[in-house]
Amino acid sequence: MRKRLGIISLFTLLFLAFIIIWNYSYQTGLKEAYIPIENGDINGVYLTENGVFENSLNALEYANMPIDENHQRTLDTYYKNRAYYGAPPFIPHPVKEEMSIGGNTCLQCHQKGGFVPKFNTYAPITPHPEMINCRQCHVKKTSEALFAQNNFAKTQAPKVGVNNALPGSPPMIPHQIQMRENCLSCHAGPAAPKEIRVTHPERINCMQCHVPNNAQPDINMAIFTRDNKNYDE
Ligand code: HEC
Ligand code: HEC
Ligand code: HEC
Ligand code: HEC
Repeated sequence: MRKRLGIISLFTLLFLAFIIIWNYSYQTGLKEAYIPIENGDINGVYLTENGVFENSLNALEYANMPIDENHQRTLDTYYKNRAYYGAPPFIPHPVKEEMSIGGNTCLQCHQKGGFVPKFNTYAPITPHPEMINCRQCHVKKTSEALFAQNNFAKTQAPKVGVNNALPGSPPMIPHQIQMRENCLSCHAGPAAPKEIRVTHPERINCMQCHVPNNAQPDINMAIFTRDNKNYDE
């Protein structure tokens, strides 16, 4: 009896040892086959390129569109609608539903663009149709006067036509990419300012050739002050 029990417990022990060792080697084997991609990393790395392809289904159409010489926008009028470089442009036209937040009221013209006879020009395409509360940022200009005198100086927009290292090489992107991921919305189609209307909208992977200019901008920041004499808080 004792002998039998001894043999059975020996085999149980061996069996347990086998399970433990096999499990251990299985687990270490697993670790070696593991590819360390962390969740979220992929989005993090390519975040600024997410929007590049957004309008690319229309790219061929943009490429084949004739240029309407009489209704071209220029960078001059583009900058005139902005309080300073990078600011959301004012709404330069009357709006039907004064109290709407935006959304479809605005997107019917600004999502795809196109000629608007009553304004006698083409509607610029919005780079951000998903931000439907348009009037959170875009408002009408109601006065030219300042609330208070101040020393605010506008930063200058970067120049165009001078951003290539060599003649014929792709110019660097002189502006930041945040909120400007969707290149074709500003650089293609009839509402694109003529100085920056791209000759090759069909090359949809823009950042394959155009890289952001990471040089630090030369900004002489003055400390912002205002004269409160004529300003009632
Ligand atoms: C009937 C079509 C139409 C509708 C609706 C419309 N827009 Fe426009 N929008 C235009 C056209 C055309 C222009 C170009 C006008 C110009 O350059 O004088 C323009 C210009 C603009 C600009 C200036 C863009 C720039 O780069 O200077 C802004 C901002 C704007 N619209 C915002 C809005 C908002 C916000 C709404 C909704 C409340 C709206 N629009 C509704 C046709 C429209
Ligand atoms: C969070 C603020 C914000 C919201 C919301 C917003 N915009 Fe803008 N929008 C901006 C800024 C900032 C710019 C200037 C972008 C730049 O110059 O880089 C701009 C630019 C534009 C332009 C000019 C594009 C061009 O080529 O000249 C149009 C048109 C426009 N927005 C329309 C709209 C419409 C329509 C909506 C609603 C569906 C909207 N925006 C919602 C901040 C906003
Ligand atoms: C909101 C509109 C807008 C969007 C979106 C936008 N750009 Fe621009 N881009 C401009 C304007 C305006 C200029 C002229 C300089 C300035 O004002 O920043 C410019 C200038 C440039 C230039 C310099 C051209 C030259 O001749 O020197 C390049 C290259 C360029 N952009 C590439 C891109 C690429 C690539 C993207 C997409 C990742 C993009 N842009 C998205 C408005 C835009
Ligand atoms: C295969 C490389 C390549 C791709 C992809 C590319 N570009 Fe270009 N781009 C160039 C070159 C090269 C030039 C200079 C052309 C010249 O000087 O004649 C240029 C010039 C430009 C200019 C200056 C005006 C002009 O057309 O000459 C702008 C703006 C521009 N590209 C925007 C874009 C945008 C927006 C996209 C994406 C739709 C894009 N590029 C895709 C190579 C490329």
